[in-house]
Amino acid sequence: MDPTAWPGVFREGRGVYTRNLRPGERVYGEELRTADGAEYRQWDPFRSKLAALLVKGAPRDLWPEVGTVLYLGGAHGTTVSHLSDLWPDASIFVVEKSPSAFAPLLALARRRANLLPLLADAQLPERYAADVGLADLLYQDVAQRNQAAIFVENARTCLAPRGAGILMLKVRSVTQRRPAEAVVREGRAELARGGLSVRAEVDLAPFSREHTALVTGPASSTVR
Ligand SMILES: C[S@@+](CC[C@H](N)C(=O)[O-])C[C@H]1O[C@@H](n2cnc3c(N)ncnc32)[C@H](O)[C@@H]1O
Repeated sequence: MDPTAWPGVFREGRGVYTRNLRPGERVYGEELRTADGAEYRQWDPFRSKLAALLVKGAPRDLWPEVGTVLYLGGAHGTTVSHLSDLWPDASIFVVEKSPSAFAPLLALARRRANLLPLLADAQLPERYAADVGLADLLYQDVAQRNQAAIFVENARTCLAPRGAGILMLKVRSVTQRRPAEAVVREGRAELARGGLSVRAEVDLAPFSREHTALVTGPASSTVR
């Protein structure tokens, strides 16, 4: 296993891996691999947009030192499980509004103490802001029409002043009518109006054809 620019993320051949916090356990049928006396879980870029962002080329300083994460749109916990591997001592608050997705998320959190699931609507951050406090990293993947507005409101309410953000913008959830580039441009403008500077923009194709990752935060990487 070779280390990468992102602490806790490893590569072997073309695969991306995290070190399994719960050796012997799979979360979504992923491959487990043992190397140097530790077990690693393969992180599938076709199943996780964050893995796709790493494979496509994220800034080296994608996330700061992480103590608290606010993750919006946890679903069954595919990506969340890898964040749990990355930061064993962090508090990872995971907001999910669908009760059917929340049940497996809750089961995952029972086995991983750093996951703190919240059955809530990400459009109403005031409902969980007191639990979360200030997050070092805000991650959002909710595929809603008003994705950028939800991100801005959560950043305003729960993101630490020097915190970083990753918005997985699903272009087709915003509109079917305008070209993808225009939708991304409008998303960036909405973040800018909310006081968030976009320091990287990465199209996630071919792993996720309809998504563009917008990375916000105070770190000083090149804007693309
Ligand atoms: C594409 S899935 C997330 C996949 C997940 N991030 C992963 O990589 O494993 C989107 C999720 O966002 C949830 N969602 C949509 N709107 C939401 C909202 N307003 N508040 C909280 N969760 C929401 C959906 O229920 C769904 O589970």
